[in-house]
Amino acid sequence: MELETQRVQSIASLHLDVIPPEFIRSEEEQPGLTTFRGPVPEIPVVDMGGGDEEKTAEEVAVAAEEWGIFQVVNHGVPVATVAALQRAGREFFELPQEEKEKYAMKEGRMEGYGTKLQKELAGKKAWVDFLFHNVWPPASVDFSVWPENPPDYRKVNEEYAQHLLTLVENLLKWLSKGLGLEGHVLKMALGGDEIEYLLKINYYPPCPRPDLALGVVAHTDLSAITILVPNEVPGLQVFRDDVWFDANYIPNALIIHIGDQLEILSNGKYKSVLHRTTVNKEKTRMSWPVFVSPPPEKIIGPLPELLDDENQAKFKSKKFKEYKYCKINKLPQ
Ligand code: OGA
Ligand code: NI
Repeated sequence: MELETQRVQSIASLHLDVIPPEFIRSEEEQPGLTTFRGPVPEIPVVDMGGGDEEKTAEEVAVAAEEWGIFQVVNHGVPVATVAALQRAGREFFELPQEEKEKYAMKEGRMEGYGTKLQKELAGKKAWVDFLFHNVWPPASVDFSVWPENPPDYRKVNEEYAQHLLTLVENLLKWLSKGLGLEGHVLKMALGGDEIEYLLKINYYPPCPRPDLALGVVAHTDLSAITILVPNEVPGLQVFRDDVWFDANYIPNALIIHIGDQLEILSNGKYKSVLHRTTVNKEKTRMSWPVFVSPPPEKIIGPLPELLDDENQAKFKSKKFKEYKYCKINKLPQ
């Protein structure tokens, strides 16, 4: 048991009207002070069902270059599959605390149920609990960290993962073409059939002071690309033109983040977007990002096809696991 780890869900269940001081962000971070309230830009929406693949490919590439985040509609993942994924995840987080603790993240492991344990540099904590587990490829999946309850948890998560394979294949194809390369290049550079799909479920309970706390603090994703499903409670914020603003969201869309690995492979053409999440006073927010990343040993660097005398490498090449180690430990890249 990891009784020393107090879950945010347990703190929220006390219905305090203040938050413990370690959740109060610095003034530079507090959403109440730093969220831009003027007219905000809208993140791009790409219709994947328009029938004109070349146009879709171009829209995806432009959004990845200019924004690093976009939404896709008519993406081919059935509404019922997404609804089942959300229902199963919600039912897991609604289980009694001791049941969830069976899946508590073990020391040094990435997968399992948890709360950010080690305090961040400024000594602050984030208002979120989470569950992490790989969903693909089969050789990377450890079912011992998958909830046994609800009973159909495994079935619905496997079904969702299958749909994502097709979606990611298409996105990588279009993003390769956007670099002037053949459709298979990015997939192969990321490890082909060994590309790993890591699901995270974020659980952000109601928070008495959403103006002072953050869910996930400002970051770019370590992945190549992230496919995210939110619930109906807003909270995702994007940093652009020097301001933080609330991301617009279309019901049933999927949110696509470009992560660090695609920024590196594209030598900076595609942008890894800076984002964070706010929390809600009355409602529980949840989200289901799937981080699509190379296998640990894969060496990632700017694609040689993109480099010449005028276009020098802006990033070092190194194993994904080394990149990850540096990022997690906040070491220079
Ligand atoms: C993350 C993240 C965003 C969200 O977990 O990396 O950015 O909307 N989540 O919950
Ligand atoms: Ni993120």
